[in-house]
Amino acid sequence: MTRKNRNFSLRTAGLQKTLTVRKIDSVIIFNMKNIRYLCGFTGSEGILLIGSGRPVLFIDGRYTTQADMEIQGVKIMECADKVEAVALEIHKKKYKRVGFEADALSHSRYRQLHSRLSRVKLITLTDELRMLRALKDENEIALMKKAAEISSSAVRSLIRRVKPGWTEKELAWQLEVEARKLGADELSFPPIVASGENSALPHAGLTDRKIKKGDFVVIDFGVMYQGYCSDETCTIAFGKLTDRQKNAYQLVKEAHDRALEAVAAGIPASEVDSKARAVFGKKSARYFTHGTGHGLGLEVHEAPRLSPISGDVLEPRMVFTIEPGLYIPGLWGIRIEDTVLLKKNSCEKLTKMDKKLIIIE
Ligand code: GLY
Ligand code: MN
Ligand code: MN
Repeated sequence: MTRKNRNFSLRTAGLQKTLTVRKIDSVIIFNMKNIRYLCGFTGSEGILLIGSGRPVLFIDGRYTTQADMEIQGVKIMECADKVEAVALEIHKKKYKRVGFEADALSHSRYRQLHSRLSRVKLITLTDELRMLRALKDENEIALMKKAAEISSSAVRSLIRRVKPGWTEKELAWQLEVEARKLGADELSFPPIVASGENSALPHAGLTDRKIKKGDFVVIDFGVMYQGYCSDETCTIAFGKLTDRQKNAYQLVKEAHDRALEAVAAGIPASEVDSKARAVFGKKSARYFTHGTGHGLGLEVHEAPRLSPISGDVLEPRMVFTIEPGLYIPGLWGIRIEDTVLLKKNSCEKLTKMDKKLIIIE
C-alpha cells in the first residue's frame, strides 16, 4: 500500500530543527519505527540519513520496489553494505557532527560505524529523540481509533462467549481470530489472558490453566492497524467473588477513574500517576507494582511515561494508557486499562469497553 500522500517532510523538518540547536549537521536513524515515522518506509531493514537536503534511505535489493512505492522526497540508495554506504555519503556531504540514536544501536554496530567514521564526531542522541513520535497527527489518530475499535470489539465478542472451562490459551487464540476477522493486521503484543492466581502476575504468559468459578481473568489485548497499536485491559470475573475481590475491583476502578479525571494538558504525567496511587492508600499501594500508563503509537510502549519518576508533561495530541492494577501474589490480580487521546480541553477515550465489573456465571 502506498503512503506517499503523507506529510513526512514536516516530521523530518522538525527533527532537523531540533538538531540545529545542538549544532548537529546530520543524524543516522536505525530504529525502524522512527524510519517509518520519518519517511513512511515499512520494511524490516534499512538506515535513514537525515542531513541538509533530501534524506537518504539505504536499503538492500529486497526493498527497492517497496521503498519506491512507499516514499517520496527521499533518495533511495540500494546497497549491499548499508553502514559502509552511509559512511561514504557522510564523507561525500562533509558532515562533521553526526547524531545517532543511542537506544537503537548495538555495541558492535556502533563500533562498525565508528571505525568507518573516524574523522567524524558521533553524537549520542537520547532525550532529543524521546518525544519524536509523542504528538500524534490526524492520520495517526484515525488509525489508532480504528485499532482500538477492533480490539474492543474482539474483547466484547469473546466476553459474550467465554465459559468456565476454557483455557487461557483458547481464549487468547479466539481473541486473535476475532480481531483478525475484524481487520487487525497483527497483534501489538503477545496477549495476556491470566486467570486465577496467574492474574497476580502483571505480565503473565499464556498457560493451559482452565478458567474456573471464583477467578478473575485479566485480558490485556491490543492489535496493530496499518502500523498503529491499541492497548486495553478488561478484568472479568467468573462465578461468586469474595467481598475482598469485589472491593479490590472497585478500588482499581476508582483509581482508574480518578487518574482519568486528572488527565489535562500541561500537567506533569507523574501527577496522574499519583492520583491513582492516592486511591490505593498506604495499605494497598504496595500491590500496585507498575506505573499508571504509557504512550503508544507505532510501538505499544513509547513516550510519554506516566509513573512516579516520569519527568514528562502531558500535551494535546498525546495518546497514552491509564492502567492501574492490584496484584496479590498467589491469589489474584486486577488491571483496568484504557487508551486515551488528550485534547486541548478534554480527553477522549479511544478504547471502547465499559469497565464496570462483568461477572460470568
Ligand atoms: N500490554 C502491556 C501494557 O499494558 O503495558
Ligand atoms: Mn495493556
Ligand atoms: Mn498498557
